[in-house]
Amino acid sequence: MSEDGDAIPGETDGPRGPRRFTVMVCRGPTCGEARGSAALTARLHEMVERRGLGEQIAVLEETCFGHCMRGPNILVYDTDEAGGARVFGPGLGAPSAVLYNRMTVADLEKVVDRHLVGGMVVRPFLNRPPARDP
Ligand code: FES
Repeated sequence: MSEDGDAIPGETDGPRGPRRFTVMVCRGPTCGEARGSAALTARLHEMVERRGLGEQIAVLEETCFGHCMRGPNILVYDTDEAGGARVFGPGLGAPSAVLYNRMTVADLEKVVDRHLVGGMVVRPFLNRPPARDP
């Protein structure tokens, strides 16, 4: 384990090629427009396209992960590990699934570089304390 990241269980690359990930952004009534989750989704699509990761990274939206006070949240999991099914939270259908809390557009660079490309969980973005809305 490094200071700010853990390797994700499983292969990083294998005979099938680079590891594939699904990134789901919550867009529910609490995390949605009020906290800028639309900007997160748009930026993720842009980054994936610009880096040519469209074959490996799927960016989706979900209504809610049940952690609204920590939102906006981003769930990341290994697409193949989940058998192509949607996963709705850590420990639900894919052991690799992690939920990043209180995400900002500025945080996304690290998630893409370290997790989606580098295969390391970005620990400082996990279990962030709930936000206090004005
Ligand atoms: S609306 Fe984002 S976790 Fe509930």
